[in-house]
Amino acid sequence: METITRLGVVGCGLMGSGIAEVAARRGVDVRVAEATPEALEAGRARLTGSLERGVRRGKLTEAERDQAMAGLSFTADLGDLADRQLVIEAVAEHRDVKTEVLRALDKALGDPAAILATNTSSIPVIDLAVATGRPDRVIGMHFFNPVPVQQLVEVTPALSTSTETIERTLAFARQLGKQTVQATDRSGFIVNALLVPFLLSAVRMVESGGATPEDIDRGMELGCAHPMGPLRLLDLIGLDTIEAIAESMYAEYKEQLYAPPALLRRMTAAGRLGRKSGRGFYSYPA
Ligand code: CAA
Repeated sequence: METITRLGVVGCGLMGSGIAEVAARRGVDVRVAEATPEALEAGRARLTGSLERGVRRGKLTEAERDQAMAGLSFTADLGDLADRQLVIEAVAEHRDVKTEVLRALDKALGDPAAILATNTSSIPVIDLAVATGRPDRVIGMHFFNPVPVQQLVEVTPALSTSTETIERTLAFARQLGKQTVQATDRSGFIVNALLVPFLLSAVRMVESGGATPEDIDRGMELGCAHPMGPLRLLDLIGLDTIEAIAESMYAEYKEQLYAPPALLRRMTAAGRLGRKSGRGFYSYPA
């Protein structure tokens, strides 16, 4: 089985930049693509900022930072990913956006054996796989936020994914120092199928006046030893992302449990997306 040494990452937001950072720190040649030069610059700044923070906190040496930086390249043209052996798309959690990116990547990749992985957490992988001409080489590779910290990658084969693709993907996740679980291709896979109803229940509790965000979070942090309560975690993940995930899960299961509550919709409409916009259930001064 050929080792993956040339990775492409499409999307350099919270997840894409984390994936690119982890891979570059493991010595992988990583090329990051974004849709526009402006988004690319913002992504590059996020990624280098995280490496600098790592140096400041003693997590990596300056030499290790320089080595990681040397393995990173950036482009606003998907055509520049032609020589990649694996490309992970980490663009917004919207079916149309992901489908379009995967279609374009399928055309751009030169290596017929190259794998297309999606970081989706809720869109059925088969729906994305069949949009390409290589449904046997499309797979779910779902990372967790913050990617440099969270150990897990959920690997989700579609019905069409070949055994070789699964094995190469599992091996690559291990190469990144991650642990894996394998899920079946159901919206939310393992982790979000359990996590998202919990987060939505916390929003409903705020909505109904059951408790304040602070008390809900303190309750779960001190009562159940969660590293952060559900509303802080919603702010970390992004309320728009959770709304999109909940929509996909509701479309799949048609159960009220997964329906995004009105308060979540109103907050995303108001641009209160959590940490990334400076305000969600809490405020984050710049
Ligand atoms: N990059 C790199 N390292 C980071 C980091 C980042 N963005 N954020 C935190 N860290 C590191 C810190 O350097 C620190 O390391 P040391 O202990 O070795 O010094 C460690 O993580 C703890 O950080 P802090 O002391 O700053 O803060 P904390 O103790 O409150 O931890 C946290 C922060 C890691 C985010 C922790 O609160 C946590 O694990 N929260 C839960 C996160 C979670 O559940 N993520 C999954 C979300 S679901 C998802 O991602 C999937 C989806 O589809 C929605």
